Amino acid sequence: MKIMCVAGARPNYMKIKPVLDALRERGAPTILVHTGQHYDALMSDVFFTELDLPAPDHFLGVGSGSHAAQTARLLTAFEPLVDKERPDAVVVVGDVNSTVACALVAAKAGCLVAHVEAGLRSRDWSMPEEVNRVVTDRLSDYLFAPSPDAVANLVAEGYRPDQVHLAGNVMVDTLLANLDRARTGDTLTRLGLVPGGYGVVTLHRPANVDDPVVLGGLLTALGEVARDCPLVFPVHPRTRATMEALGAPPGVRLVPPAGYLDFLALQADARLVLTDSGGVQEETTVLGVPCLTLRDNTERPITVTEGTNQLVGRDPGRVIAAAHQVLATPPPARRPALWDGQAGRRIAAVLTMGGVAAGRPRPT
Ligand code: UD1
Ligand code: UDP
Repeated sequence: MKIMCVAGARPNYMKIKPVLDALRERGAPTILVHTGQHYDALMSDVFFTELDLPAPDHFLGVGSGSHAAQTARLLTAFEPLVDKERPDAVVVVGDVNSTVACALVAAKAGCLVAHVEAGLRSRDWSMPEEVNRVVTDRLSDYLFAPSPDAVANLVAEGYRPDQVHLAGNVMVDTLLANLDRARTGDTLTRLGLVPGGYGVVTLHRPANVDDPVVLGGLLTALGEVARDCPLVFPVHPRTRATMEALGAPPGVRLVPPAGYLDFLALQADARLVLTDSGGVQEETTVLGVPCLTLRDNTERPITVTEGTNQLVGRDPGRVIAAAHQVLATPPPARRPALWDGQAGRRIAAVLTMGGVAAGRPRPT
């Protein structure tokens, strides 16, 4: 039994790490593939170093491009590797282009496909990630869901119960493993911040950052929020050019993309986080830090129903009002069940005990 684990973009590394570790703990032969969808040192190398991820066995170097160009490069680079290595199973995580492309190659090559973070649905088909989620799930033999809502989505879509596993949240495994280390580092002093004295912003969704009018409106709102709570904004490469053209309002400090430990430290001691990231909605819930999501929908509703997250859209007036409200009255938080640091182990147990090793039937 040989299991190939795939990562390609920033939100993948912290998700693959606990699965890879748990598979190795069980003695399963593993191969780590980095597709190279993200490649800047601050979008890739820093996570391998800080998370103590082994150097990838294979680096595909696909880089950036339109959806079609990037996906095509992923397909043509991954297929010969799968043909050469002939893994029994391929594990993909999350919802990026690397996820869906590698799942497609693996399924057609006759490998078992395992999707970690299955069943999340924003029901917003204009999001490229929603297309990737739905298609990856359809290609997968093993659907590892992070929360009961995700299980319910999969059941409603007709997946067989024996394919669907409520595994918990692998991103939380990595957060819990690194929180103490992040908090005892020098992130805040280096940035001249004090605990509870600042807020954090991240924005990279095409719907928020590609149109300068939309991004400009959000920056106006952030400038207003910063009058009460100064903001630190690690800028995603996708957002960089538009942001540089628009300039930041007073009180909003732009910094390069943060490394994992710095970003965890920043989130942990923030008064407020404003974001359109998927993972940050989950991390703030676990950290109990108020989160305003600048989107109209979320594929992670449990962060709203049980966590600290609130959907506020992108209307500047609504963002400002919501920020004032949560700064005055921070919401209570409950950590969702199975967001407990053991998700990677549950996944590895399924794959190595009752799963790949036992030659499960493929879905019909
Ligand atoms: C991708 C994912 C998105 C995820 C995000 C996490 C898809 C369709 N999108 O979005 O779901 O939330 O990653 O961060 O897979 N760039 C660099 N350096 C890099 C990487 C990207 O400069 O290392 C720039 C390039 O100009 C590139 C642009 O960012 O064209 C977008 O990169 P891409 O990987 O296509 O999508 P993201 O917006 O990063
Ligand atoms: N993150 C980081 N540095 C940053 C912004 C985010 O390390 O400057 C981490 C964050 O803690 C989380 C992951 O990146 O673990 C989320 O990735 P991202 O927001 O890029 O993608 P998404 O979750 O929206 O797909």
